[in-house]
Amino acid sequence: KITPVLMAGGSGTRLWPVSRKSFPKQFAPLVGDETLFQASARRLAGQDFADPLVMTNADFRFIVAEQLDQIGIRPGAIVIEPSGRNTAPAILVAALMVAAKDPEGLVLVAPSDHVIPDEAAFARAVRQGVEPAADGRIVTFGVTPDRPETGYGYLELGGQGDGPQPLARFVEKPDAVTAAQMVAQGNFLWNAGIFLFKADTMIQAFRTHAPEYLSPVLTALDDAQDDIGFLRLARVPWDNLPDQSIDYAVMEKADNLTVVRFSERWSDLGGWDAVWREALLEAPSNNGVVADENSTAIDCHDVLLRSDSEDLQVVGIGLTDVIVVATSDAVLVADKNRAQDVRHAVAALKDRG
Ligand code: GDD
Ligand code: MG
Repeated sequence: KITPVLMAGGSGTRLWPVSRKSFPKQFAPLVGDETLFQASARRLAGQDFADPLVMTNADFRFIVAEQLDQIGIRPGAIVIEPSGRNTAPAILVAALMVAAKDPEGLVLVAPSDHVIPDEAAFARAVRQGVEPAADGRIVTFGVTPDRPETGYGYLELGGQGDGPQPLARFVEKPDAVTAAQMVAQGNFLWNAGIFLFKADTMIQAFRTHAPEYLSPVLTALDDAQDDIGFLRLARVPWDNLPDQSIDYAVMEKADNLTVVRFSERWSDLGGWDAVWREALLEAPSNNGVVADENSTAIDCHDVLLRSDSEDLQVVGIGLTDVIVVATSDAVLVADKNRAQDVRHAVAALKDRG
């Protein structure tokens, strides 16, 4: 069986005011009724999978436990990172935990904040990755790009055809010019941020490419304490680990990567414009209006109107390309084409204290 590892420690600021430091986007229902975290956990449940490991931090531990309980999934462990050190050390912890039981055990690392509506297609892609992973490859999943996004990693295909193939190169978050070149070239896919590998393969990759993590992470795991059902990693030496994503620490350097294509819809909901786009695909409307039950759009085009409280009704009149998101203590009104700038609002609010 494959052990799913759900990465749930990040805090997305571009979906403010729904996504907060204390309640980030993966725990909110953004498209549909389930939260993104719940949808991710369910996608990785079933006969092919063992109980999931959830990598998170102290602030989110009760949200994680409650949201899993609501959908009837029992975690293998909920692991608490004493501080956010990005994805590299968290993934190494998961690999070490699986390896302690079975070094040959397969691990599937997945973000908990993505939208993947076609679960059957996703399961097929995972199954395609099993053989290369069992052969000692690190399997990545590639999505066909439709724009020169600079917030993603890129996978350069090293073979022909539609099946799993060796990766020529992994490029994490290129600049705009490089991204445009890669999309134009046509032999690059987006990295979906999902990885499948044998526990031992990943540990070996760290030994080769990021050896500074091994001994402190082992210590943090050896000295971990059971905290009423949560596994709390030891603060010393965790807090001194370098803050690096797996993409920079390992993926860009490794030479044993394989890519499996995922051709169905995939989005990492990197902003309110993406939420609007996904909601429209889910439930198409004529004039591009996405409005929830607390919102009303009159003569509007291509708008997202959302209120998380029935005591706060939102009405838009004659708007085009506008996003309005209201919560109990904040209202965002933005040009839809400026959705990426929401993170600046969060920074500005922080400065004001
Ligand atoms: N447990 C834990 N601890 N999880 C974390 C941490 C951490 O310190 N930091 C981030 N995460 C979680 C996030 O919540 C998210 O689910 C996942 O790890 C990926 O982190 P992001 O911060 O969202 O990464 P990214 O979007 O900038 O880039 C990655 O994902 C892209 C696709 O969405 C890279 O893998 C890119 O190459 C990829 O294209
Ligand atoms: Mg992300």
